[in-house]
Amino acid sequence: MKGVILAGGKGTRLFPLTAVTNKHLISVGNLPMIEYPLCTLRRLNPESISVVTGGEHFQDIARYLGEMHPEINFSYHYQKEAGGIAQALSFVGSFVKPKKIAVVLGDNIFENDFQKAAIEFEKSGLGAMLFLKQVNDPERFGVAEIKKGRIVFIEEKPKRPKSNLAVTGLYFYDSSVFDKIKRLKPSKRGELEISHVNQMYIDEGRMDFCIVKGYWSDAGTIVSRMACEKFVKRGLERQVVNSFPKETISLLKKLNPDLFV
Ligand code: DAU
Repeated sequence: MKGVILAGGKGTRLFPLTAVTNKHLISVGNLPMIEYPLCTLRRLNPESISVVTGGEHFQDIARYLGEMHPEINFSYHYQKEAGGIAQALSFVGSFVKPKKIAVVLGDNIFENDFQKAAIEFEKSGLGAMLFLKQVNDPERFGVAEIKKGRIVFIEEKPKRPKSNLAVTGLYFYDSSVFDKIKRLKPSKRGELEISHVNQMYIDEGRMDFCIVKGYWSDAGTIVSRMACEKFVKRGLERQVVNSFPKETISLLKKLNPDLFV
């Protein structure tokens, strides 16, 4: 399996923190936000990780990841404008095909390890796997409608949600995802929507889902980032630091031993 992190977009909901840097380099606890979705992917042992980002801070992300994670085979892809999550994903097609892929949004923070689900997905004939989480504010997310144990419909930020099951920002896909993205038309908000891609898999009957048991949140708004900070302090931040490669841990111990206290 190959991994993809989508770290484009404008980050306006975290302004002014994002005035002069990329949203995914803003801290959540003592680590840049991108370390958490990166850890979610690293736990799946992907062959390589493709990072899509844009704007004037493109090189900062590449420099940061290259310095901290020399053990990972990264490829970098440029998204000129925030044309949507599906558009961002389209840029890695020629690099990751024909493998199955795990895609994570650069502002999503998961407690759980999804390695078992990834192994099962690779062996299966499924086209896509979604990870749903019960939330109190479904209108902020893509929301899944379930009938007889299957997802039948996904609605992006519905005014009247049909369930409280949010579609989290971790997606497993087969390589037909790239042909599906080519068939998309921009939504009312002018983006190529990942929810429309997911609906195509549902209509083909090739999608399954899991319920996320542990903590999940995006860190893309002032309120949700603060909630994530509280959560990562309960242990996730430490786990991520401890899973860094040896050379990075030595460097951090030299420069900032407080991180390990
Ligand atoms: O967090 C989960 C939610 O993420 C899902 O429930 C929704 O279905 C999905 O559309 C998305 O909703 P958001 O409105 O929270 O997405 P946002 O525009 O904040 O983008 C989330 C991440 O996706 C962002 O940190 C980077 C990446 N992204 C986004 C856009 C719009 C890109 O790489 N390029 C883009 O053009």
